[in-house]
Amino acid sequence: MTELQTLKSALLAEIAAAGDEAAIEAVRVSALGKKGSVSELLKTLGSMTPEERQTRGAEINALKNEITEAITQRKTVLKDAAIDARLKAETLDVSLPVRSSPAERGRIHPISQIIDEITAVFSDMGFSIAEGPDVETDYYNFTALNFPEGHPAREMHDTFFFQADEKGERKVLRTHTSPVQVRTMEAQDPPIRIVIPGKTYRQDSDATHSPMFHQVEGLVIDKKSNVANMRWVLEEFCKTFFEVPSVTMRFRPSFFPFTEPSFEVDIQCDRSGPIVKFGEGTDWMEILGCGMVHPNVLRSGGLDPDEYQGFAWGMGLDRIAMLKYGMPDLRDFFNADVRWMNHYGFRPLDMPTLFGGLSQ
Ligand code: DAH
Repeated sequence: MTELQTLKSALLAEIAAAGDEAAIEAVRVSALGKKGSVSELLKTLGSMTPEERQTRGAEINALKNEITEAITQRKTVLKDAAIDARLKAETLDVSLPVRSSPAERGRIHPISQIIDEITAVFSDMGFSIAEGPDVETDYYNFTALNFPEGHPAREMHDTFFFQADEKGERKVLRTHTSPVQVRTMEAQDPPIRIVIPGKTYRQDSDATHSPMFHQVEGLVIDKKSNVANMRWVLEEFCKTFFEVPSVTMRFRPSFFPFTEPSFEVDIQCDRSGPIVKFGEGTDWMEILGCGMVHPNVLRSGGLDPDEYQGFAWGMGLDRIAMLKYGMPDLRDFFNADVRWMNHYGFRPLDMPTLFGGLSQ
């Protein structure tokens, strides 16, 4: 056998033995690459006599063509085999049960749900959402809301005070969402129609009180809003929010420094079962405080009480959530227990809307 034939059969054997695309590529480089065995032979063509080139030169070229062809063929076979193997390995069993996505498994906390429900109802009535800081100045939390210095109502709020700063000012954790009333009056001109959901803080802790809790405040300011308008807004809200066709409400005279006249509002309900039923029964449940905004509060907000008037209300959310969804202990709301969340939480894609139903 000539040396060329030996090389040829050795290369053909290597090509046949190559088991995958990387192996055949290695054979190609070893034969046809820059320093490959066949390439080295081709380089000798330049120094051949014309006669040699006709015989030996032609043989080397034929070898090169044959090896190139064999490699191409083997490559195609191996590539097809690799695709077949991948298709086999990546088959999907479409009869397997669908695995729930993270968005399906997560849960919305009942407080977030309640806030979304309430904002859905008030947005529909043309209200916007306003927010303010949790760490509040004594001025916005009390003074601007017509709590005189040393007034006992300040004590009633069981306030968390911060230590006084260099200027002697003691900030507080806001005891209610009412400070945002004045902040909003300062920031925007009437007519004002806002609801203010947020966290509030008081030193209180038992099965129905938590030192951090939630309120929603409402504020309407224009030139002629009155108690009748307030009643209508609150009644419409209660019907929609409690998802009942009608509610009976009772407005009892009360006192808040920032409203005059002031009322506490009870809603008729049936508390004989495990879940309170609204709009029926013989019990009354207090759900909010409200009133006509006090002239001094309008003045704090930079408005002239002879020109502007309006009404406001404030409502605790945690207790309402407990009642609406039958949760017995408020402290569970803040224990971050995933089992509780799985049970009482809401599906994230079920957004509360008036047309789709608030809580479904
Ligand atoms: N801020 C009051 C509280 O925390 C609730 C309240 C009562 C707010 C009457 C109001 C209102 O806006 O008009 O108990």
